[in-house]
Amino acid sequence: FENVISIKDFSRKDIEVILREAEKMEPIAAGMESSDILSGKMLGMMFYEPSTRTRLSFETAMKRLGGDVVGFADTGAISAAKGESLADTARMLAGYSDAIVIRHNLEGAARYVYDTVDVPVINAGDGSGQHPTQTLLDLYTMNRFFGSISDLRVALVGDLKYGRTVHSLAYALAAFGAAMSFVSPPELRMPDDIIHDLQGGGLEVNETEKLEDVIDDVDVLYVTRIQRERFPDPEEYSRIRGAYRIDRPMVEERDLIVMHPLPRVDEISPDVDSLPQAMYFRQAFYGVPVRMALLKMLIKN
Ligand code: CP
Repeated sequence: FENVISIKDFSRKDIEVILREAEKMEPIAAGMESSDILSGKMLGMMFYEPSTRTRLSFETAMKRLGGDVVGFADTGAISAAKGESLADTARMLAGYSDAIVIRHNLEGAARYVYDTVDVPVINAGDGSGQHPTQTLLDLYTMNRFFGSISDLRVALVGDLKYGRTVHSLAYALAAFGAAMSFVSPPELRMPDDIIHDLQGGGLEVNETEKLEDVIDDVDVLYVTRIQRERFPDPEEYSRIRGAYRIDRPMVEERDLIVMHPLPRVDEISPDVDSLPQAMYFRQAFYGVPVRMALLKMLIKN
């Protein structure tokens, strides 16, 4: 493959190959082994939206493989502030690098950049569209813990309307044949076009507003943040925020794991963190081996 724009471009088999490659990368990601397979290679980073995990794990992945990074995470400090277009900025950075990672607030921005430049492009999140590398690390985490994905029952909880992580993840879990429940307030339901696609693929979609309807029948609670920055109406955000809050009594006696792409605001109480079911920090670490695998496969020597 030459880009990572949409998880829909990847078959189950493609994903399995990436997950196997990521497993081999784990000792290097953890600093127990070293590698220079990307020595002399440069990764261009275009972050038009805030990021902690995605940006820093790509940077770690590139450096752990002997490569380096160049780019920006503060659009106030680049010539976009003087009016330079996304296309021109991407063309410039493509000239300095061997692949580009882009996060942007507009859905479709990564595909647009891919059509503009002649190096591989990775979508690090495009508005409410997709976040395919997050999905790959989510699948890696599930597979690492359970040894399989296809038999799992996964509840996607929270902001299913604007959440790009759950948009990508729903397609990937469907490709593996995992059972899914969508838990959200009515205002933040999974978009109809995604539900339509999933049903077209033969998936039975279970939607509910109440977490208690599904919590006893799932292996994974995949919790997401209600995304204030995507709401056109701040009052609607204020009404909905805090709709779900996972606390220790809800989790400690149950046979499930709790995942979250992070950052969290108040969806998971901090006293859940020390439970063995809390998988979200481990999940964030797995971003490094998964992104190492992608960089190795995308950047040709
Ligand atoms: N999960 C995720 O995309 O986190 P960041 O926004 O910190 O990159």
